[in-house]
Amino acid sequence: MKSVIDQIRGHRSIRAYSDQPISPEQLDAILAAAQQAPSSSFLQAVSIIRITDKVLREQIMHLAAEQPYITAAAEFLLFCADFNRHVQIVPEAKTGFVEQLLIGATDAAMMGQNALVAAESLGLGGVYIGAVRNHPAEIGQLLGLPELVIPLFGLCLGYPAQDPQIKPRLPRGLVVHENQYQPVNQVLLDQYDDEMRAYYASRASNNKDQSWTSQIRSILGKEARPFMLGYLQQQGYCKK
Ligand SMILES: Cc1cc2nc3c(=O)[nH]c(=O)nc-3n(C[C@H](O)[C@H](O)[C@H](O)COP(=O)(O)O)c2cc1C
Repeated sequence: MKSVIDQIRGHRSIRAYSDQPISPEQLDAILAAAQQAPSSSFLQAVSIIRITDKVLREQIMHLAAEQPYITAAAEFLLFCADFNRHVQIVPEAKTGFVEQLLIGATDAAMMGQNALVAAESLGLGGVYIGAVRNHPAEIGQLLGLPELVIPLFGLCLGYPAQDPQIKPRLPRGLVVHENQYQPVNQVLLDQYDDEMRAYYASRASNNKDQSWTSQIRSILGKEARPFMLGYLQQQGYCKK
C-alpha cells in the first residue's frame, strides 16, 4: 500500500475509463470521505448531486464543453454550494453575502478533493469538470437547483483506462513565501517554462509546444465567464 503522501503526489487527472462500475460500497466510502472534510463554521454548505440518469448526463455533457468523459465515467458527482438547506431550517437566516460564496466554494473544494483522494486510494481515477459553470443556469434548471444552490464543479470517477504522466507543478520557491510576499523569480519561472515545454512535447496524448507562461497568457487573455456575477446574484449570492 502507498503512503498517503505518495498517493497524493502521484495524482494525475484521468479522463478515460474502463467499463468496470464503482461498487456501492466504494461509492459509499468515497462519499463518507467527502463529508468528513473540514467545514467553515461547520455550516456544511455543500450539496452533491449524483447524476445516474443517462439522459441527464448527456445533457450536462453538452452544456459542459462536450467533454466525453462526463458520460463515459462510472460516476459523475456535481458539487454545489448550498445555503438553501440552511434557509429551509432557519428561515430568518441572513443570506446574500459574498463571504457565503467563499464559504460554499472552499467547503466544496475540500469535499471534492477528499472524494478524489479517497477514490484514488481505491485504484480509481478522476477529473474535475469546471465546465459545468459554462451554463450554470441551464444545469440548475435540469437538476431543479433552487435559490442559493449553485453548481461549482463536477467530478468524473472510474477505473483508469489510461496512464498519463504526472504534470509538473510550479517550483516551490514561486509558491511558498516566508513571512513576506515575494515577486516572481524569473530564473525559477524560466526553468519551469522549460520543464513544462518538455512535458507537453513528450506526453503521450495532446502534445503541444507550449510553456506555462504562454498557457496562462492565452487563458487570461480571454474573459472568464463574465455572466457569472449576474447568475450568482440571480441565485441569491453576492448581493452584499
Ligand atoms: C476546479 C477544477 C475544474 C477543472 N475542470 C476541468 C474540465 O472542465 N475539464 C478537464 O478536462 N479538466 C478539468 N480540470 C483538471 C485540470 O485541467 C487539471 O487538474 C490540471 O491540468 C492539472 O493536471 P493533473 O490533475 O493531471 O495534475 C479541472 C480541475 C479543477 C481543480
